Amino acid sequence: MEKKKIAIVFGTRPEAIKMAPVILELNKHQEKFESCIIVSAQHREMLDQVLKVFDIKPDYDLDIMRQNQTLSDITADVLKGIETIFIDEQPDMVLVHGDTTTSFASALAAYYQKIPVGHVEAGLRTHDIYFPFPEEGNRQLIDTITNLFFVPTETTKENLLQEGKDENRIIVTGNTVIDAIHYTRDSQSKHPALDLMDSKPNQKWILLTSHRRENYGEPMTNIFEAMLEVVNEHSVVEVLLPVHLSPTVQKLAKEILGNHERIHLIEPLEVDVFHQVISKAYLVLTDSGGLQEEAPALDIPVLVLRDKTERPEGLDAGTLRVIGTDKKRVIEEVNELIINKERYKKMSKAINPYGDGLASGRIVRAINTFLNKEE
Ligand code: UD1
Ligand code: UDP
Repeated sequence: MEKKKIAIVFGTRPEAIKMAPVILELNKHQEKFESCIIVSAQHREMLDQVLKVFDIKPDYDLDIMRQNQTLSDITADVLKGIETIFIDEQPDMVLVHGDTTTSFASALAAYYQKIPVGHVEAGLRTHDIYFPFPEEGNRQLIDTITNLFFVPTETTKENLLQEGKDENRIIVTGNTVIDAIHYTRDSQSKHPALDLMDSKPNQKWILLTSHRRENYGEPMTNIFEAMLEVVNEHSVVEVLLPVHLSPTVQKLAKEILGNHERIHLIEPLEVDVFHQVISKAYLVLTDSGGLQEEAPALDIPVLVLRDKTERPEGLDAGTLRVIGTDKKRVIEEVNELIINKERYKKMSKAINPYGDGLASGRIVRAINTFLNKEE
């Protein structure tokens, strides 16, 4: 059987974390597959951190990141940069992940070359194309030109069926983030942030992350000001905030939270260290997508700083609460979880709706079947 060439394209931190296990799995089957790893580097430093943890060396690096890049910058740079690579490499399939603009633009470039697209983490929906923005639009656009859908859960499969997608092209795999957690869980990596948490074991550590474009401005200001009030109210609370490298987030975080002894602003962490940090936290406060999947698997309650989530599985499991970004509400919800032991206990039971950590194997087997049937 002729080897199939699979191009895997990604550009940001979360895509890299969730695609890494797929790349490692493809590499285990070199008799069947040749992989071609293309990074846009929509993120630079935060992408390189992940590549290092998983020891992945890209074949192509478009190196597109610019300060304060716009969505059009990313789309145009990826589309243009990737076209010649696809023409030269002639992959049998292109794999993209999730909902970033790198993923959308590379799926579009593949479509223009009539190369089949496999979409990892397909089918997530809020059904509001402005929330999260532009991710919901990206997802829907990618799924319009996707040939093989790798969905994490039955709910996401149902979303696609409701849109009239062919059931035979939908494979429920679990989320590859659980595969990634299985990879990082034996990490012995040391880090000052872990030492800091260990040095104050009786404190209630809140792990905070925020980066969403739709939270820029007032919502993010509300979140940070709420944190300040919570910390001032409870001397037992300590906040750890690995600040996303977006200049907008950096500026606001430093302005509002940069000067409190129990609020610790740190650089983005390597993912293996970050997973250890989640496990040590009392509570996660986030607008991130990936954290809504990881924290429940690691036993930690999550308050989601958004009005809507495309990840209802964690809500059903009881480990997530969607609380929005109203300052008063954020303070109340955090206070409740500090004071109300019953609620805290209910939310912190370990429930992982995202599979058994074997998603990558299912993805690679499905690609094999698909490509060898298409001939
Ligand atoms: C992007 C994705 C978002 C994803 C997030 C994960 C889009 C439109 N957005 O948003 O879906 O949730 O990544 O974090 O695809 N920067 C650096 N170094 C880095 C990374 C970022 O300096 O390693 C700075 C750059 O100035 C860059 C800015 O952050 O211009 C914003 O990065 P960008 O990828 O445009 O947006 P994110 O908010 O990170
Ligand atoms: N993460 C990390 N270091 C950090 C913060 C987050 O490795 O300092 C990881 C986290 O474990 C998760 C992913 O980054 O897997 C989430 O990325 P992000 O919040 O940037 O994007 P989203 O998931 O919202 O698209």
